[in-house]
Amino acid sequence: MKIIVVAGARPNFMKVSPFFGAITRYNSQLGLNSESIESLLVHTGQHYDDNMSDVFFRELGIRRPDINLGVGSASHAVQSARIMIAFEPICEKEKPDWVVVVGDVNSTMACTIVCAKMGIKVAHIEAGLRSYDRTMPEEINRIVTDALADMLFTPSEDADQNLLHEGIPEKKIRLVGNIMIDSLVESLPKARSSGVMAEYGLAPKGFVYVTLHRPSNVDYRSSLTAVLDALGYVAKRLPVIFPVHPRTRRMFDEFGLKPKESLLLKFVAPIGYHRSLCLTENARLVLTDSGGLQEEATYFRTPCLTLRPNTERPITVIMGSNRLTNLDSLIQDIDRSLRGPERVGQVPPLWDGRTGIRSLEHLLQASRS
Ligand code: UD1
Repeated sequence: MKIIVVAGARPNFMKVSPFFGAITRYNSQLGLNSESIESLLVHTGQHYDDNMSDVFFRELGIRRPDINLGVGSASHAVQSARIMIAFEPICEKEKPDWVVVVGDVNSTMACTIVCAKMGIKVAHIEAGLRSYDRTMPEEINRIVTDALADMLFTPSEDADQNLLHEGIPEKKIRLVGNIMIDSLVESLPKARSSGVMAEYGLAPKGFVYVTLHRPSNVDYRSSLTAVLDALGYVAKRLPVIFPVHPRTRRMFDEFGLKPKESLLLKFVAPIGYHRSLCLTENARLVLTDSGGLQEEATYFRTPCLTLRPNTERPITVIMGSNRLTNLDSLIQDIDRSLRGPERVGQVPPLWDGRTGIRSLEHLLQASRS
């Protein structure tokens, strides 16, 4: 069996790593009559900076991509089109049995469309999540990918329900759990010894960890200014650490906003995976608009406020430590959260570190039948 695995942007890397781990394990335990799995890693190059891409490969021990499409940044249409144009000849040449895509970024959708037109089977890991907000580019990517994919690996029961409501046949859906948690569990020892707390002078449960990069929060001067005001307020009581995504940094520059640094309010360059996990585990509060951080905070039971009107990961709110917030109630919600308990919520079922293995087993079964 030949599998191409696609990764393109920062939140993809911790999702492909466990799948490669499962392939390596399978190949090392082969019986006499079984054939090994041949795998290729295609990096689309959607993210390309060292601190948005390479650092994750190093820290997660992911092998070097076999092929890098080098598409870089552009508008959604141009970026997706470049990925499609570059990916099609690879599929023609390699003729994979399966293409595995993860998450909800433009690379996920673009490669799925290519395969659907070529009759190549696609498996989507992290299928079925829906925010029901089509102003989010990721929601469009999720809907298109799930409509076209042949095998849908879901992280939680709500995702199965979303797919069934969209008329996706049940036989395509496999509830396998949250693959990102595989990487988290595996990386914990290294995360805990990353040294990031000492580096920034932070005390356990004594700081707020902030990441914000969604267009809806950072592409408007008014929202970005309101965020900065709120952070200034929080930093009067507790240290705040904010690794700034390149999109957010670009918007600071474009609006001529010069975030005011202080001893308690630090804006730093994007950080790697281990350091981010360590901050999430130790923060008193996470304030974010990232999908992944909502889940990682839930795993650590660290209180999390998500600055969005909705989430495609409702289980993090229903079972986990995540709450939605908005610019009008942000300061109140932060205050309330800081007055509450240090650890909240529960870890959802199947967030157990074995999702990569379960996904590969289902893929092998489907290929045999
Ligand atoms: C993308 C994903 C989003 C994910 C996020 C994580 C889509 C539609 N969005 O959004 O779901 O949460 O990645 O980061 O796929 N840039 C750099 N260096 C890089 C990459 C980007 O400087 O390595 C800058 C460029 O100015 C670029 C901007 O960041 O224009 C945005 O990058 P892009 O990949 O278009 O979208 P993200 O906002 O990162």
